[in-house]
Amino acid sequence: MSESYQKWFKAKQDEFQTIDCYSAGVTPQGLAEQIGVAQSEIIKLNFNENLFIDRTKQTALMKQLADEIDLRMYPEDEEAILREKLTGYLGVSADYIAISNAGDELIDRITRLFIEKSDVAVSPSPTFAIPRLCVQRQGGEYVTVPLTEDFQLDISGMLSHFNGKTRLLYICSPNNPTSNQMAPEDIEKLVNAFPGIVIIDEAYGEFADYSFIPRIREFPNVVILRTFSKAFGLAMLRLGYAVANPEICKIIREKAPLPYPVSGFSIRMGIKMLENMDIMQTAVSALVTEREKFITALNQIVGVQAFPSQSDFILINTQKSADEVYSKLLKRGIMLKKFGILLQYKNCFRVTVGLPVMNLKLIKALNEVMSD
Ligand SMILES: Cc1ncc(COP(=O)(O)O)c(C=O)c1O
Repeated sequence: MSESYQKWFKAKQDEFQTIDCYSAGVTPQGLAEQIGVAQSEIIKLNFNENLFIDRTKQTALMKQLADEIDLRMYPEDEEAILREKLTGYLGVSADYIAISNAGDELIDRITRLFIEKSDVAVSPSPTFAIPRLCVQRQGGEYVTVPLTEDFQLDISGMLSHFNGKTRLLYICSPNNPTSNQMAPEDIEKLVNAFPGIVIIDEAYGEFADYSFIPRIREFPNVVILRTFSKAFGLAMLRLGYAVANPEICKIIREKAPLPYPVSGFSIRMGIKMLENMDIMQTAVSALVTEREKFITALNQIVGVQAFPSQSDFILINTQKSADEVYSKLLKRGIMLKKFGILLQYKNCFRVTVGLPVMNLKLIKALNEVMSD
């Protein structure tokens, strides 16, 4: 091995040490083994997956697809077909749409395209972590401004960071992990003042009250992120899309990805879900009904505060230490996403709205843990 390689590779390793990476934490299988139960016993409420999607119907579509496609061939015009199908769903023309490998890859693509070393990105905090990881990997700086106490945007705080170096603004609405939508007039103020690209992340848009998509033509610097992972329940297939002005969309489509970036199977499954929209609509409406009941039930537990939600998960804060609650729930086979301190709240968790039977198990377990 050459000395030059060794030196260079060591320097690279040191550089990578400074870049945070995403860790999914314990898996259901790992937890099941740890606590000695079958994996089917684990209540997984940590990833905001949509279990309200009718699995039988979804599997039937997958089987149809298996007969229709030939996996030996490269994808052809799948992306164009999906974009065309999305025009009906979104009410914008196909040149306003770019297909991606779900939301994370879209954030990565946008960051690689538009953020250079020493550029600055701004976002409120707390919010979804992936944009920070992507910006830091580009050598950019990531500045955060705390949300207000009622989880809204601190407009003057955000505006005070905008300058000739700030090139990416990330606003998640509904926000992960607080679960609320930001006031549209606040987003509008920031978008109009920002001297760069604004990502409005609507990964949970279908569960929420409003979307910026109908207004996309007003905002030439906005990219709205959407995904098939949540409302459509295709998290495993990694499919998402951007809605943005045609000039930006063309760049996102053509200048970052390698040829055939998105799996043809995933795209065709997305098309099937759009052709059978009732599967998503029925699931979303059942989930939203369950969400409201779940919030009420969580708030009845002494020492638990559950916040209003406009997505498929709920933020809760407990009076007991987050570490204690988390480990006691894990021992009972229940997985939540632990955050600990968020703004003025000390012991926060993000809880997916699961099927009623799962939610009941969490409520029972939380009652026990909180009264221990
Ligand atoms: C706010 C937000 N944006 C984007 C994503 C990315 O999801 P996906 O890559 O599955 O589309 C997630 C996933 O949890 C999310 O919470």
